[in-house]
Amino acid sequence: MNLKDKILNKEATICIIGLGYVGLPHAVAFATTGFRVIGLDLSERRVAAVNRGHSDIPDVASEQLAALVDAGRLEATSDYDRLTEADIILICVPTPFDDMKTPDLQYIVSAAEGIMPRLGAGKMVILQSTTYPGTTEEVVQPILERSGLKAGQDFHLVFSPERIDPGNPQYSAHNIPKVVGGLTPACTELACMLFGHLTPAVHAVSTPRAAEMTKLLENIFRSVNIALVNELAVLMERMGIDIWEVIAAAKTKPFGFMAFSPGPGVGGHCIPVDPYYLSWKARQFDFYTKFIELAAEVNADMPNHVVGKIVAGLNLHGKALRGSRVLILGVAFKRDIDDARNSPAQRTIELLLDAGATVEYYDPYVPVFQVGGNALHRGRVALHSVPLDEGLARADIVAIITGHRNVDYAEVVARSRIVIDAVNVTAALTDESNRIIRLGAPMPAV
Ligand SMILES: NC(=O)c1ccc[n+]([C@@H]2O[C@H](COP(=O)([O-])OP(=O)(O)OC[C@H]3O[C@@H](n4cnc5c(N)ncnc54)[C@H](O)[C@@H]3O)[C@@H](O)[C@H]2O)c1
Repeated sequence: MNLKDKILNKEATICIIGLGYVGLPHAVAFATTGFRVIGLDLSERRVAAVNRGHSDIPDVASEQLAALVDAGRLEATSDYDRLTEADIILICVPTPFDDMKTPDLQYIVSAAEGIMPRLGAGKMVILQSTTYPGTTEEVVQPILERSGLKAGQDFHLVFSPERIDPGNPQYSAHNIPKVVGGLTPACTELACMLFGHLTPAVHAVSTPRAAEMTKLLENIFRSVNIALVNELAVLMERMGIDIWEVIAAAKTKPFGFMAFSPGPGVGGHCIPVDPYYLSWKARQFDFYTKFIELAAEVNADMPNHVVGKIVAGLNLHGKALRGSRVLILGVAFKRDIDDARNSPAQRTIELLLDAGATVEYYDPYVPVFQVGGNALHRGRVALHSVPLDEGLARADIVAIITGHRNVDYAEVVARSRIVIDAVNVTAALTDESNRIIRLGAPMPAV
């Protein structure tokens, strides 16, 4: 049976390399659809957990995973030799940057090198990791072709960006449209057919580069628009205007406006990282991506702004930051998730520690949080989430950095001396004793 028939009949074996926030939901989605799925991950701990039917990715329910494992539809391994069983290989490994914001493709390279000696004629390799335009053809293709097989001729090669939004119950692999760019029209057609089993909307583009660029456009669009409202939030504070009120009003326009929220900065694996992949690549073309740099500058400064508000809040009570106890609420990079990678809370806490404050945090999803260990703050510190009651009792000031929905903010305000709210979760609360200082809003009267 050729690959087309195997895809049509769901008889293709799919191997997913990297069982993290992207790979595991996809493994489950394909297995649920009826495909046999092998998940390949270097982390023995993660492999063992998946084979036990235990999910450490919040968007994947352990019961659902366990049912697929029990039914023999999904298994995990660390053994690259299992790739010989696969008809289709999806690469979902991390794409971080280094201290100099240079793309770090080591995980993609090692996955491709693991595939190369096990690649057979007629197979399809799909890269899903977010990366700069050209990675599929300039990095992955040459490695795979060291097998002696030619991409687009002997095997299929495709880029299809991943767009999942962890913690968003409305959108999953089953309803987020997929963008697909194959090396040849035949590669694109087969990948569209495959993803068509997952989601009703598949959009083909002409090349892997166009697909790679699509994902970067989406994330740069967010980064630039978040920077715009962050800059305006700082301005509106000075002007005595509440940006949240203004955004709510502007949102009533049914066309031509899309609401973005200001906040303490950008975090996660995508928005603070991906734009740099493009600005790095652009330099090869003698091009300097000014919007990306400007947005990064504004967003990177927001933790400084939040610390400035903490200083202002303490000042209202005649206190200095040095020696004060600050309780940070929320260190995940966005609400209701456990992912704290590149969280704005990290830089905020580093700045507070540098200024001589004592910092504790509470986050119901993140038990341990690492800060420092970088050029900006050399010393590495592991903080542990404290019980909310105890943290509130000890704190001179509370700063809400991530607005998880399972925290009672009325209670937090009632039990705090001063609250800095960087995400507007206290907007609806009455504040008779002027304890709340919201980012993007006028200072309370003293
Ligand atoms: N997390 C998101 O919300 C999100 C959304 C869209 C796109 N992306 C992109 O998807 C990619 C993966 O991100 P993630 O958040 O799933 O990462 P992750 O860190 O959650 O998971 C990656 C997994 O890959 C494994 N791994 C690394 N190198 C490997 C190798 N050579 N062979 C086998 N396993 C290997 C790791 O052990 C880990 O379990 C990144 O490019 C990211 O930018 C992430």
